Amino acid sequence: PSNISRTEDRVGLERGICRAKGGSAGFKVAILGAAGGIGQPLAMLMKMNPLVSVLHLYDVVNTPGVTSDISHMDTGAVVRGFLGQQQLEEALTGMDLVIIPAGVPRKPGMTRDDLFNINAGIVKTLCEGIAKCCPKAIVNLISNPVNSTVPIAAEVFKKAGTFNPKRLLGVTMLDVVRANTFVAEVLGLDPREVDVPVVGGHAGVTILPLLSQVKPPCSFTPKEIDYLTDRIQNGGTEVVEAKAGSGSATLSMAYAAVKFADACLRGLRGDAGIVECAYVASHVTELPFFASKVRIGRTGVEEIYPLGPLNEYERVGLEKAKKELAASIQKGISFVNK
Ligand code: NAD
Ligand code: LMR
Repeated sequence: PSNISRTEDRVGLERGICRAKGGSAGFKVAILGAAGGIGQPLAMLMKMNPLVSVLHLYDVVNTPGVTSDISHMDTGAVVRGFLGQQQLEEALTGMDLVIIPAGVPRKPGMTRDDLFNINAGIVKTLCEGIAKCCPKAIVNLISNPVNSTVPIAAEVFKKAGTFNPKRLLGVTMLDVVRANTFVAEVLGLDPREVDVPVVGGHAGVTILPLLSQVKPPCSFTPKEIDYLTDRIQNGGTEVVEAKAGSGSATLSMAYAAVKFADACLRGLRGDAGIVECAYVASHVTELPFFASKVRIGRTGVEEIYPLGPLNEYERVGLEKAKKELAASIQKGISFVNK
């Protein structure tokens, strides 16, 4: 078959498959959009993750090359490539976790919502495949606009009768990663020691850093709060402009996606106390989807934490975020039900 890595194909097929099947310690992970700017470094980093026993790389272009390249890394995961729609079902069958960075990125001057027309259809098709082939998998959705693509995925799963809100997570980890970095710079700390909750969604004013809840406890001047809020909310645009037409964040996103996927896998394994921010079906506000801290366990999202005490600045930000989020959520829902 064309979809397996060369070593497996030539000599190690049976042993490779035995290892993949017998690897009770490992999870099976698929990346959809694996040949893209995020997909390639994400595939490389997932191949390095000891929790992964099987890694399926799916894209509509270039997966044979990426798969061949990555399969030479001397780490445990067995890598297989899948090319084009006709191999989507095979790519998805049996997966525990599906990570989706498929779709077009922004160019300078565009909003994430400008990607809706192309990416909504891509996400819908991929989620139809998930509903059919691995309805119990955890889904990590990266494709923009996340504020709308997660509602799209939920509607597709509802239509298929497979929706489990605990297993669909929009990836907002890059906002947290950026917030930790920028806050650490201001405080003169190591970013690894800093934890900034970022709630709401993943676009402009919907990205709401809760600077009053930073750990370790600290205080900021009003000028620092303005600077940090603006930088965190516009971190994506900062990269889009610096890349000047060649795309948006890919490397920091791959890092954030792997950090998040690893948290999901540790939760699935049964590790206690796995808490990350994610955009999920939620009752934390009156909106049907919202990003906040969630606890991830064996069944997916097992607890969604309330926002905690907000200061006046954050309460104003929350109202702005909810207004934009409501429209983006509705747009996603309407797309599937039109
Ligand atoms: P890219 O263009 O470099 O890669 C996208 C890949 O998706 C390509 O390889 C393309 O062939 C593939 N693709 C297109 N249609 C497909 C389909 N139907 N099935 C499978 N694969 C398909 O883009 P990128 O820089 O990797 O960004 C991907 C997406 O991630 C964009 O929508 C971008 O806005 C988003 N993004 C989200 C975050 C976040 O924080 N959630 C961060 C960065 C980028
Ligand atoms: C990001 O935050 O970097 C991504 O959402 C990509 C973008 O378009 O900004």
